[in-house]
Amino acid sequence: MEHVLVTGGAGYIGSHACKALKKDGFTPVTYDSLVTGWKDSVKFGPFEQGDLLDRARLDEVFATYKPVAVMHFAALSQVGESMKEPGLYWRNNVMGSLSLIEAAAASGVKNFVFSSTCATYGEQDNVVLDESSVQKPINSYGASKRAVEDILANFGEAYGLQHVIFRYFNVAGADPEGEIGEHHRPETHLIPIMLEAIDGTRPALTIFGTDYETPDGTCIRDYVHVCDLVDAHVLGLKWLMDGKGSRVFNLGTGDGFSVREVIEQSRAVTNKAVPYEEGPRRAGDCTKLVSGSTRAEVELGWTPDRSNMNQMIEDAWNWHRTGHYDG
Ligand code: UFG
Repeated sequence: MEHVLVTGGAGYIGSHACKALKKDGFTPVTYDSLVTGWKDSVKFGPFEQGDLLDRARLDEVFATYKPVAVMHFAALSQVGESMKEPGLYWRNNVMGSLSLIEAAAASGVKNFVFSSTCATYGEQDNVVLDESSVQKPINSYGASKRAVEDILANFGEAYGLQHVIFRYFNVAGADPEGEIGEHHRPETHLIPIMLEAIDGTRPALTIFGTDYETPDGTCIRDYVHVCDLVDAHVLGLKWLMDGKGSRVFNLGTGDGFSVREVIEQSRAVTNKAVPYEEGPRRAGDCTKLVSGSTRAEVELGWTPDRSNMNQMIEDAWNWHRTGHYDG
């Protein structure tokens, strides 16, 4: 069976990608430092522990498995943290990715799928973002991902490293079969924090800013189900293996939800009150990030059919109540 090297395969999105790859007949090889990932979530193929900056280790893993492609998820991904410690983001996300991309090119890999982010767009006046929207990130996280997109463009030209770049909007939900789910320590994302506040495992949720220029004053995001998101990655991999060339795709649904709307939907799905308080803005947050995903739907044949808010909260809630990782 063909191997796909999945960096960050022990993380939230990477582990779901491994499950989708296995289901599609590939063998996912997880490469993960376990700094933020969980060994318990590596269930669908071999595990190789290592850091992206450890080039010798990467070379060894490429030589052992001879992967047909790389899916690169491993990254630090907290907008707030990236504003306080930008060096972490440039070292880990940019230097780490460069090390991986060089190792992939040196080993002769031609297909590379990269998780980028809508945070590369920054604040925009035109509210629905498409792939040709100008990228002007306002936080170090978005800037670090944007830099890796540039590296890939250059390596594509120099070494024929074909790449699909996915710019994610806000990923949510969990594997409906309950094998894997979202588990960050510390947790910073809205939906899991809210679920923890609902069941009392953390104090009230704080809404970061109620004075944004949106109908209810809170930030608006476009949420996509993690299973739909990783399905797009498998389609992107096939796109590359079919020789269709480098391409960028947004992955979102085109529907925006404010923080207050997500709170209300969570109350409705769980049938429990959401304890929350209102607080100041968080540095680096954009007012509104909403995508059109027309390109992914038309060109890849992507159908994000699990990405409705109720389903995402329900799947996240089921995982929250029943799933956990010990290590
Ligand atoms: N929020 C709160 N309180 C919280 C946590 C979040 O009000 O305790 C708000 C945020 O201010 C934001 C929204 O909920 O308006 C969503 O915040 P998240 O932290 O869940 O997600 P972000 O939009 O900041 O970032 C996430 C990923 C990034 C990705 C980005 C794309 O962490 O990796 O989505 O929008 F790039």
